[in-house]
Amino acid sequence: MTLTRRNFVAGGSLALGLGSLTTAALKKEPPISTKGLKDIAARRGLSFGCAVRDQHLSDKLLSGTITHECDIVVAEVAMKWAINEPLKDDFQYNAADNIVRFARINRLALRGHTAFWYRSVPQWATGLLRDRYREKVITDRVTEVVRRYKGEVSEWDVVNEAIEPRDGQFRGLRTAPFGASTGIQYIADSFHAAHEADYDAKLFYNDYGLEYDTPQEDARRAAVLALLTDLKRQNVPIHGLGLQTHAGVGRRFDAVKYRLFLKNVADLGLIMRLTEFDVADRNAPPGFVERDKAVAAHASELLHVALDERAVKGILCWGLRDQDSWLAQNGKRKDGLAPRPLPFTDDLRPKPLRSSIAEAFANAPDR
Ligand code: XIL
Repeated sequence: MTLTRRNFVAGGSLALGLGSLTTAALKKEPPISTKGLKDIAARRGLSFGCAVRDQHLSDKLLSGTITHECDIVVAEVAMKWAINEPLKDDFQYNAADNIVRFARINRLALRGHTAFWYRSVPQWATGLLRDRYREKVITDRVTEVVRRYKGEVSEWDVVNEAIEPRDGQFRGLRTAPFGASTGIQYIADSFHAAHEADYDAKLFYNDYGLEYDTPQEDARRAAVLALLTDLKRQNVPIHGLGLQTHAGVGRRFDAVKYRLFLKNVADLGLIMRLTEFDVADRNAPPGFVERDKAVAAHASELLHVALDERAVKGILCWGLRDQDSWLAQNGKRKDGLAPRPLPFTDDLRPKPLRSSIAEAFANAPDR
């Protein structure tokens, strides 16, 4: 057995293979702990990153782990509209600016999340979005934030979560935050506005619920594909699809379906990124060892298929430490135990999920 990166990252085979290795061979490769996920990803032309909060950046151990593991970061909350403009024309960018500075100093790429999301509309704008001038209310916001971070943010989630087939509207569009009827014009206008504000930024549509084998996710995939097809047909400047990938142990995954969806998106000339990856463990056993194993196994299954598609350019996790996960609030377990959906423990020790991500990168075809 030769000592390859793959052996190093696939923890189990390392233990098996060590007997046949000389000390000299070991010296050639630094131990895995010195290699960040970004380095393992980069070998295949891929990228790894995570969501950050402003207050994380002053925590030395956490920010050190972020810069060790990541080549890209995204603001978990700091670039959302309700945060940036709580009152009309009263702009609040402190937290966002801190994250931008952190990325610049550490030479990390930066995703912008998100210019428009129905769940982060400031109170003052909610009424305005119900009248016929809503396109302008939205494009003003898009222009403002994209222009502000021109040259700093390399890619934007221009519109986030615009699809909800259960709302029963034309093309599966979500009614919120508009009231009943809507169309795709506001989405097209948002992308044009973002493009005008920063010609160099890559522009993404970002959404969840696109991975699993359920009638609901079938409908979501079809609606997203139809939306992307319409936008491309109308020459809207859109470059990518963000796959949030809030995964979950025990959910029905059909590799063939998922693979086909990714191929359909790639065939439109779009790139993709897994933008908010985590693995909910509601349906996994309570014991930490068993639970972490189930999370890692589920991730492996999904990530291998995702990274097989060359139009998928990388993965961002929605946080690094379990305690920071949004699922601590939104993914409660019946037994009341804290969820463990992320690649690091609260004291920043790598979990089996980190190995799954590393292994998926190592096994991915070159970009
Ligand atoms: C979540 C954040 O993690 C929370 O801290 C915040 O309070 C609400 O938003 N999909 C998205 C993200 O696109 O913006 C959401 O992030 C999680 C679901």
